[in-house]
Amino acid sequence: MTNSEWWRTATIYQIYPKSFCDSGNKGTGDIQGIISKLDYLKKLGVDALWLTPIYQSPMIDNGYDIADYYSINPDFGTMADFDELLEEAKSRNIRIIMDIVVNHTSTEHHWFKSALGNKGSEYRDYYIWKDPVDGKAPTNWQSKFGGNAWALDEVTNQYYLHLFAKEQADLNWENSKVRKEVKDIISFWAEKGIDGFRLDVINLISKPNEFINDESGDGRRFYTDGPKAHQYLQEISEAVFQKYGSVTVGEMSSTTLDHCQKYSAQDGKELSMVFNFHHLKADYKNGEKWTKAPFDFLSLKSIFNHWQTGLNGKGWGALFWCNHDQPRVVSRLGNDEEYRELSAKMLASSVHMMQGTPYIYQGEEIGMTNPHYTSIDQYRDLESTNMFDIMVNQEKSVSESEMLDILDQKSRDNSRTPMQWNGNDNAGFTLGTPWLSIANNYQDVNAENAVNDKNSVFYFYQKIIQLRKEIEVITSGDYYDLMPEHKALFCYQRESSTHRLIAVHNFYANEESVSLDLKGEDVRYILANYGDVEFTQPQEGMILRPYECRVILIQK
Ligand code: GLC
Repeated sequence: MTNSEWWRTATIYQIYPKSFCDSGNKGTGDIQGIISKLDYLKKLGVDALWLTPIYQSPMIDNGYDIADYYSINPDFGTMADFDELLEEAKSRNIRIIMDIVVNHTSTEHHWFKSALGNKGSEYRDYYIWKDPVDGKAPTNWQSKFGGNAWALDEVTNQYYLHLFAKEQADLNWENSKVRKEVKDIISFWAEKGIDGFRLDVINLISKPNEFINDESGDGRRFYTDGPKAHQYLQEISEAVFQKYGSVTVGEMSSTTLDHCQKYSAQDGKELSMVFNFHHLKADYKNGEKWTKAPFDFLSLKSIFNHWQTGLNGKGWGALFWCNHDQPRVVSRLGNDEEYRELSAKMLASSVHMMQGTPYIYQGEEIGMTNPHYTSIDQYRDLESTNMFDIMVNQEKSVSESEMLDILDQKSRDNSRTPMQWNGNDNAGFTLGTPWLSIANNYQDVNAENAVNDKNSVFYFYQKIIQLRKEIEVITSGDYYDLMPEHKALFCYQRESSTHRLIAVHNFYANEESVSLDLKGEDVRYILANYGDVEFTQPQEGMILRPYECRVILIQK
């Protein structure tokens, strides 16, 4: 490792403000709610908070449709609340990372409102307009939320591009005025003292020169990691990120390792690190999200291997299982009933012992589960309700009950249910009616119980956050998959000039025996999820119980 930036040994906690904590009875979370939980986050030990968007927004996509980048959505509070949050967080040595959504704006943004229906508007060229082709949309590209990616402006008879909802119009980054606006927006928040930025779908900003039909896909191959994506990021980075020393994490949709090496190259000219999602497609049948399938364990390991070895020394990755777009990992890859706590801890260890910067999504630290909804009426996310409508009602490709099974596995609402703070009404999240139903298990699975139980998932996370700060090989060591073909164990080694770290994880409920090479000067357990292990001496032959994990540090 050549760099010593703070974020290389840090752990970042993601807050989805709408579902975190309501300071009153609105049924939706707010900034004062976040402030009231800072001591809890301090106890957990995280270094920074990433807040998903809290700007003025009609909330069609829960804030990823921004109508004004310079003001706070009153549902969340005021700018004064935000300033208070910054100050309160700083006083606890917790940094704040804001979400920047500049691939698109809300169609309620004043730029778009002026551009719509008016070819002469000074903001018309802020967006991407095309004439119809044969009386239809300019290309067959699909929106990520279902349906064609173009919407017609009837007044001017031109289409605008929206890779997401039709209320999220893609910005035209070719226009230097757009890039100037983006720099101004980011500078405004950097000036306020924000420590960093998470850049939403940032590898989609550069669209191709020509817009043509995609005969073999949904269009993404034309605009993902587009021709000027690196150039644009370098421009923004030089003007803002480097100037303010901001940490930056880019959300990279369907990207490649090559591109991510460049986005996060150690010369610091683009971004600090990247999120990629390939490991979270291990349960997509034939690469399709809207299917129900068991996860492919061997492919999961090989994807991690590809990225861990590929970024080492070249770039930097974010380590994560969960976020506001992904189902809860304990329901997805673990066992959210009998082995909930053991599998939650094992899954935590499996990514936190890798190289990169770990992200914990609210509730993950207490092993929150999917809510297992049984009716479409319980879902709020537009992606889920759109896909239900398309697949069940329009295409009739699946039955309603099959779709409910798919949503139970894949819906984004699985992670958006309100944070479970305690066993009181509405899990202590609100005094009103929560905007999205809370999982039934909140009397058992909640933060208060977790904090009161020394063996809880919470303290396991507290420990791994600390280990990353103390044990250098976790940050710097080379990665080597020791058992790529094993059907149940995920066992990898991290190695530096002085140490080896072996992390072994049983991803299933059967016992597995294993023999490890533990030769070295000093050999000890530093982490285990079964209480009887940690203070014993590691032996080369061992039996891994259901969902067991053990991490061994060897001084060479
Ligand atoms: C990102 C966000 C997601 C949002 C989409 C469009 O993937 O994480 O929640 O819907 O971008 O902005």
